[in-house]
Amino acid sequence: MTEDNSKHSPVMQKVKEHSVSSAVAVAGHPIHAMLVHFPIALIMATLGSDVFYWFTGDEFFLRAGVWSAGFAFWLGVAASLAGTAELLLVRGIRIRVGSWTHAIAAMTLLAIAASNWGVRLYFPEEVLPHGLALSVLSAIFAGVAGWHGGKLVFDHGVGLMVSPDE
Ligand code: HEM
Repeated sequence: MTEDNSKHSPVMQKVKEHSVSSAVAVAGHPIHAMLVHFPIALIMATLGSDVFYWFTGDEFFLRAGVWSAGFAFWLGVAASLAGTAELLLVRGIRIRVGSWTHAIAAMTLLAIAASNWGVRLYFPEEVLPHGLALSVLSAIFAGVAGWHGGKLVFDHGVGLMVSPDE
C-alpha cells in the first residue's frame, strides 16, 4: 500500500475543492463513458479482421476491416467530442494533469485510427503489412488512452454523479 501524499499537498487540496461531476450526461449517465466502448471494441475488431485475413486470405475480412476501421474512427470522434466538452466545461476535470494525459493519448489514437481507415479505403493492397501494423498500434493506444480514462474515473472520481442521498 502506498501512502496518499496528496492529503498533505496544498496544491492537491485546492484541486480537490472543485467538482468533477459530468456536465455532458443523460439522466446521470456521462455520455463519454457510454460512447467509448464502441471505438475500443471496433479497434480490436479491426485487428481481429487483419489477423484472420493474414491467415485465411479471405477477402471478406478485408471488407470487414474497412467497415470496422471506419466506424472505429467516427465513433472515436463522437466519443472525443463528448470528452472534450467535459474537459472544457468542468473546471475540476480541466485542472487535473491526468485529464490532459488522457486527451493527448486519445487524440493520438484518433490520428492512428484515421490513417488505418484511409489505408483500407485507398490502398487495400497495403493492408498486409501496413494496415496490420496500424491496427496493432491502435490497439496499444486504445489500451493507453483507456487506462488513463479509467484512472480519471476510478482514482479521481471524475464523471461520477453520486446523488447526495447515497
Ligand atoms: C480529446 C478526446 C478525449 C477527452 C478530452 C476525454 C476525456 C475524458 C474524461 C473527462 C473522462 C472522465 C469520464 C467523464 O467525464 O465522462 C474520460 C473517461 C474515459 N475515456 Fe476519454 N476522452 C477523450 C477521448 C477518448 C477516446 C477516443 C477513448 C477511447 C477510444 C476514451 C476512453 C475513455 C475511457 C475508457 C474512460 C473511462 C470511462 C469509464 O470507465 O467509465 N476517451 N475521458
